Amino acid sequence: MIGRRKDDHVRLALEQQRTNSGRNQFDEVSFVHHALAGIDRADVSLATTFAGISWQVPLYINAMTGGSTKTGIINRDLAIAARETGVPLASGSMSAYFKDPDCAGTFSVLRTENPDGFVLANVNANATTEQAHRAVDLLRADALQIHVNTVQETVMPEGDRSFSAWLGQIEKIAAASDVPVIVKEVGFGLSRETVLTLRDLGVRVADLGGRGGTDFARIENDRRGPADYAYLHGWGLSTAACLLDAQDAGIPVLASGGVRSPLDAARALALGASGVGVSGGFLRALLDGGVEALTALISAWLDQLTALLTMLGARTPAELTRCDLTVHGDLRTFCIDRGIA
Ligand code: FNR
Repeated sequence: MIGRRKDDHVRLALEQQRTNSGRNQFDEVSFVHHALAGIDRADVSLATTFAGISWQVPLYINAMTGGSTKTGIINRDLAIAARETGVPLASGSMSAYFKDPDCAGTFSVLRTENPDGFVLANVNANATTEQAHRAVDLLRADALQIHVNTVQETVMPEGDRSFSAWLGQIEKIAAASDVPVIVKEVGFGLSRETVLTLRDLGVRVADLGGRGGTDFARIENDRRGPADYAYLHGWGLSTAACLLDAQDAGIPVLASGGVRSPLDAARALALGASGVGVSGGFLRALLDGGVEALTALISAWLDQLTALLTMLGARTPAELTRCDLTVHGDLRTFCIDRGIA
């Protein structure tokens, strides 16, 4: 049952990648071009450090899958691409493993194929502290993601209908975890208020997981047949809006959701992200072209991101925050409505 759901998610996410408009709110963020800002490529490093975590590159493969034979193969290939390119890599939700320990191998392959990489385990906000420990142990994970996904659960026929316990569970896991805890949305975004709450719960990092890419309201509607909740398609805050909203929220933020190119990654870093995650776009590259295609794509992104930093005069991803940006369209209206200077 869970395995079939995981296979459905992959199939429907891929369909979305092939049919979505290609536009999102990152288009409403532009760098001001300064013709003499460029520096030397040799002086540029992509390394990023936040909340005691150090990554060689600010790009990561965000949570997707595991729990079925097919998704175990996808995880194997994601792990190979991560190993070959040095990008951190997150597991999909490990609840399937808690329900059926026989599927452990579909997750642990993330570590066996990528023994020295940075690996993130992933649990839902109902997980017990004991389950959180088991997830981290299985992957020998370097960090733990807890996903929050009220919209997805609401549209899922078999989804949760009680969410009030999540805050307490997140606080308990954050207190008990031996590795940094990152709370992430799955494509509907974290508001400033939510990030502040997470900070107060002891969470070390927030992955904003905003709108603009994979839309889990659509995925779950497509699974249920007649699109009962079609009006929830496009719900949430875009990743660019979340980044603007969460300025100085007290904990480092990661940006994911609708990151389509190295330029979007540079925009997100310039808006204050410590790292940038991609799911749907990398899944498509893998399923269309195999592990070699995904590895080549990630390598090209890292190469081009270095080139963009060179052109923009930023020696590190953090220095991108000094670049001049303009914000236009609906995103500008959002900033005015939220009182963002
Ligand atoms: C996801 N995502 C996800 N997130 C999570 O925390 N646990 C999970 O199990 C899954 N499962 C999952 C399956 C598939 C097939 C996709 C494409 C995505 C959500 C993912 O991590 C990310 O937040 C969103 O997909 C938005 O990013 P993109 O796809 O727009 O880059």
